[in-house]
Parts: sequence; structure tokens; C-alpha cells
Amino acid sequence: MSTISFDVPPEVLDNRESERALRVRGGRSLRGEISVRGAKNTLPKNMVASLLTDQECVLRNVAGVSDVEIVGRMVRALGGEVEHTGSGEIRMCAARLAPLSRGEAAEFSGRSRIPVLLCGPLLNRVGELFIPDLGGCDIGPRPIDFHLEVLAELGARVEETSDGVRLTARRLQGARIRLPYPSVGATEQVLLAAVLAEVVTELSNAAIEPEIIDLIAVLQKMGATISVETDRVITINGVAQMHGFEHTAMPDRLETASWACAALATDGRIFVSGAHQLDMMTFLNAFRRVGGDFRVSDEGIEFWRAGPLRSVALETDVHPGFMTDWQQPFVVALTQAEGVSIVHETVYEDRFGYTSALNDMGAQVQLYRDCLGGRSCRFGQRNHLHSAVIVGPTPLRGTEIHVPDLRAGFSYVIAALVADGVSTITNVGLIRRGYESFEDKLRALGADLDAGVGSASRTLRRRIVSA
Ligand code: EPU
Repeated sequence: MSTISFDVPPEVLDNRESERALRVRGGRSLRGEISVRGAKNTLPKNMVASLLTDQECVLRNVAGVSDVEIVGRMVRALGGEVEHTGSGEIRMCAARLAPLSRGEAAEFSGRSRIPVLLCGPLLNRVGELFIPDLGGCDIGPRPIDFHLEVLAELGARVEETSDGVRLTARRLQGARIRLPYPSVGATEQVLLAAVLAEVVTELSNAAIEPEIIDLIAVLQKMGATISVETDRVITINGVAQMHGFEHTAMPDRLETASWACAALATDGRIFVSGAHQLDMMTFLNAFRRVGGDFRVSDEGIEFWRAGPLRSVALETDVHPGFMTDWQQPFVVALTQAEGVSIVHETVYEDRFGYTSALNDMGAQVQLYRDCLGGRSCRFGQRNHLHSAVIVGPTPLRGTEIHVPDLRAGFSYVIAALVADGVSTITNVGLIRRGYESFEDKLRALGADLDAGVGSASRTLRRRIVSA
């Protein structure tokens, strides 16, 4: 099967890249201009939305990231067409739809969490699907209980088996649903399932991230009537049929923040073309508090370090809070700030594991089970290391590092850029899940690096094998 043909090397898609490494010689400030395209966390969902109709859909501003390629393959395996029709543009058409075979479902689920979002299109159009145990980034348990509960409330029959979950439905029915937590994925699940359900669904305690609003915009173009009301309530009026759409995906605010942190940590200056201020207000405030500054123009946002970096206390949260995916690159910048910083992670219970490699590089990051820095969160009583205290500034030294997940991976790249000496970073294929052509962008900004330099050293291999 051919790929959509973005710039994603086949070894990345086939998970063969873990042995290839990126070598970074640190000590240079990043300076110049790069661009960001459509968000990694909206593009796959917009592609899934295209499966709700048998008509043609066009998606623009599509980034060449491996998550898009994988979902493209998945759509094809379901019987849909996906065609790369121009720079950053794909045309999709699912005139017919068939469930994935168990083997295909297992393969896709091992690489991404998107298969869980196929429930809406498949239950509405085919009446059944099987979800094997899911993959995605290794950042804690990441259960799908909310997803299964909302689908059951919409009338799906949910049968848990030893290797996954089988779902069936005749016709989904609107319901009044309250999420236990404003989960992004569970909110998307309700949206994608309820648009074709009978009558009205009212979802309370919904996620309202800009990525969710982007998906709602697509569904509205397709014929749905969805209103986002006060207090996290979303009302969805089901329709009998959806039609095609043309949509330009919102820019990636996670990638933008990552480049901003790279400018901050390396004392550089980066103009991120395509970045959008309104989706990043909270990040921009924190960026200024820590000693960075920025200039917003119609074309993008320029980021730089305005003076010595200052320590801060912050916590991650659902929108409009400070995103959990901004946390990792920001923590690397905080290792260069004067004083004691506190970061309280309230979205995921286990998202600081990556800091042990930063400590190996010379950082001083200590993890705590308590809710530090202010308010208590749902992880406070559950014995999770979810608060970090960062003492800085600490010089970092180059080392060998294995990428555990996407965001931690990019934060290791930033740490390597700050460090004295050479760092070798393995498993960089994971970074390509969400950062388009990141090695080219780093070079364009003046980084000193070699990409694809072969396998990890014996020491690191031993560490990887025993991890
Ligand atoms: N949760 C449950 N049960 C569920 C679903 C979620 O307990 O059924 C919990 C999760 O374990 C977590 C919290 O709810 O503690 C929030 O999870 P959420 O459902 O909001 O996350 P997600 O939809 O799985 C998306 C992004 C993540 C991003 C989060 C939060 C995609 C593909 N992923 O995940 O992005 O961190 O929302 O904004 O959109 C990344 O880009 O690196 C990334 C991990």
C-alpha cells in the first residue's frame, strides 16, 4: 500500500527507526525562522470525521507527521480513499466503509490511540467494530473507560474481551452525559458518535480545547448543529446524514510552544511562521513570567529570551490552563532559570519520568507525590510522582538519551542543544509523530547535528533493553 507521500521515511512508519540516532553538538543559540502547519492533535480527528460521510472531504494545512500517515493508512484499510492533492492538502472519500480486520486493528492500535475514535463513524455506518488494546505515547496508563461509558450511554453494546473491546449498535441514541473529567478524547468520542445519533445529546464537563473547537467546526461544516455553552456544556443535535467538507486545520500550538522553549533555553530568537496567538495565551503569559518575550504579527510569533530566566510555579491543566504538552520543553528551559521552580502536573499522573535523563545531564529535578504549588488535584491522594521541583540554573552536559515519548523527545533535543558537548538521542522516530521535518528545521536555525547516525552505543543499548 502506498503512503500519502509526505516527507515521512518508511522506516519511521514501520517502527524500524529506534536504532537510528540524532547526534547534537550543544552550545549554539537557535536563530531564524521556521514554520508550523496543522496540529498533530486535530488532523487525525478531522480525518476520522471524513468517515462520517460518503462524500469527498478536503483537508488543508496538513503537516507531514507520521500520525497523519498512520491514520491515512487506517482510512484506506477501512475502504476509504486518501490522496495527497497538493502541498499540505489531502482529499478523502469514504464512499464505502468496512470494519478493520482484527489483525489490521491490532496493527494500527499498537501505533496510535486514534483507532478508539473510529467508534462514531463505524457504529453509525457499519454497526460494529473491535478495538484492541491501544498504543500511543508511553505517559502512564491512559485508560479508555470514559470512552466506553459514553458509548454505552449513547446506546452501543460494549463487550470487553481478553484482547480488546467489541462494540455494536443498531442506531445510536442521544443522551445526557456527564464526563468524570474534561477528557479531550472522550469529548471527541461523544462528538463523533452523537452527530449521527437520534435527536439530542447534552455533554457536560466537556473538554473545550481549541483542538475540540476545530473538530466542531469541521462537523458543523458537515451539517451538524453543535453548540458550546457556558460551564463546559456541549449540545449536539443529531442529523440523519453528514456531507463533505473543506477545512484548513488550526496550527500546531504544541509544536509552536516547543520552538519557543528552544529559543528560551538556548538564548536564541525564533520566528514561528503560522503560529496563532489566541490558542496560546496561557503559554505566552508563562513565557513572559519566566523571562522570555515575544512579538505577534499576522504571519506568526517571534520568541526570544529577554534577560536572565526567572523561576516560576505553575501547574498544567485542561484548557484554558497551561497544557500538559507544553510542560516538558518548558521544564528544560526552567533548568536554566535562577532559583527554585515548581511544576504540578494535574492532567496525567505519570508524566515526569523523562526528567531522570535530564538529571543525568546535570539538571536538578526532584519529583514529589504531593500536590505542590497551590491547589490539590485528583492525583494528590494516589501516590503518583506528579510534582517537580527544579533548581537552577544548572549547566547540562551531553550524554546518550533514549526518547520515551513524543514531547519528552523534543525536550531532550532542547536539552542537548543547551548542553556542553555531544548528545546522542535514539528512538527519534517518535518525535516525528508530531514534529514535521524537525531535523531540517533545527539545521535551518543553526543547530549543529547529524541525523540518522546509526545505532546507539552498547551502554545505551543495555539501558534500553533493561528499561
Ligand atoms: N482519561 C481516563 N479515561 C479515559 C480517557 C482519559 O481516565 O477514558 C484520563 C487520562 O488518563 C488523563 C486525562 O483523562 O489523565 C486526560 O486525558 P485526555 O482524554 O484529555 O487525553 P487524550 O485525548 O488521550 C489528548 C492528546 C494528548 C494531550 C491530551 C490532553 C491526542 C491524540 N492526544 O490525549 O496529546 O496531552 O489530549 O490535552 O489528541 C501529545 O500530543 O503528546 C499528547 C499526549
